[in-house]
Amino acid sequence: MHQTVLLREAVDALVTNPSGFYVDGTFGRGGHSLAILDQLDDNGQLLGVDKDPQAAVTAAQLQKVEKRFSFFHGSFAQLQGKFEEMGVETVDGILLDLGVSSPQLDEASRGFSFLNDGPLDMRMDTSRGETAAQWIAAASVEEIASVLRE
Ligand SMILES: C[S@@+](CC[C@H](N)C(=O)[O-])C[C@H]1O[C@@H](n2cnc3c(N)ncnc32)[C@H](O)[C@@H]1O
Repeated sequence: MHQTVLLREAVDALVTNPSGFYVDGTFGRGGHSLAILDQLDDNGQLLGVDKDPQAAVTAAQLQKVEKRFSFFHGSFAQLQGKFEEMGVETVDGILLDLGVSSPQLDEASRGFSFLNDGPLDMRMDTSRGETAAQWIAAASVEEIASVLRE
């Protein structure tokens, strides 16, 4: 089970306007999102974002029961375009809980685990892009060195 880190501290610091528009840019399994929604009133809104298809499945379930919540499957790097598309001009706060989530580490098939063998995938979004194994097979020594260094 994923245990959300700094849950109370992060959400208490984030939500200053219960009627505001907030973004959880790294939805994961929704731990922070649920706590943010708890602090919003009926006019508040939360947009969830995550690259991971499994996070999108969890978010779809939440969307069914929570009208103040919307979600898009993609990167938080696309947020500006998303805001323009939604006609959002002001955002009250954005939460980014950066890194991998424990379900991504637990599933050996994702390729992030140090404990269990698995294919070298390492994509946050398994629905697109090349795996780490494909990238390594084509990358030069200089490119690999640069990625490891940076
Ligand atoms: C530490 S987890 C977040 C856990 C979440 N706060 C919770 O309570 O369940 C980090 C999440 O960020 C997502 N992620 C990583 N890079 C991302 C990006 N560029 N855009 C959107 N999501 C990203 C991962 O897929 C992962 O689900």
